[in-house]
Amino acid sequence: LKFVCFGNDGIDQHMIWLIGLKNIFARQLPNMPKEYIVRLVMDRSHKSMMIIKQNQVVGGISYRPYLSQRFGEIAFCAITADEQVKGYGTRLMNHLKQHARDVDGLTHFLTYADNHAVGYFIKQGFTKEIDLEKERWHGYIKDYDGVILMECKIDPKLPYTD
Ligand code: ACO
Repeated sequence: LKFVCFGNDGIDQHMIWLIGLKNIFARQLPNMPKEYIVRLVMDRSHKSMMIIKQNQVVGGISYRPYLSQRFGEIAFCAITADEQVKGYGTRLMNHLKQHARDVDGLTHFLTYADNHAVGYFIKQGFTKEIDLEKERWHGYIKDYDGVILMECKIDPKLPYTD
């Protein structure tokens, strides 16, 4: 099992994994238009943290780091059906937090969580209470109806991975 994080950088193996991840999102998030998923996953301002098992992508999180604002917006998060509830979703989020803090310099994540995924995000340390000052995110991320904005503060020191 390995964890990798990159965006659309034109490297063949990375493109194969990003397409695999896009397909997992399309299947696991059936309410999301497929074109929208492709656009964000392949967008050069987004990056994806992925779990690779036997050279196959089994899940990932695509996010947009707003480096000047020091927060990231999680766009999509999913684990392929036959690998769910094995703890991969938790390990994935921990690797993402570590990377976002140590490589991107982020202090917070925000995400619009689907209703049924709120429980998963709460277990990952997200809250419905937004502590991040509005000036830091207002105008950077869209306001939606019917989805729940959630926040996670990234600990400045905690080792998230072993
Ligand atoms: N509701 C409540 N709790 C949950 C849910 C859920 N939907 N999913 C997992 N959990 C819990 C697990 O029971 C586990 O709890 P425990 O630590 O007490 O045992 C904990 O969260 C973590 O479980 P993992 O095994 O690490 O989670 P998994 O690998 O299954 O990944 C995920 C969770 C990503 C939500 C997966 O179920 C999935 O891909 N679901 C379909 C796609 C989806 O809904 N994605 C999120 C949409 S919102 C967005 O993308 C911004």
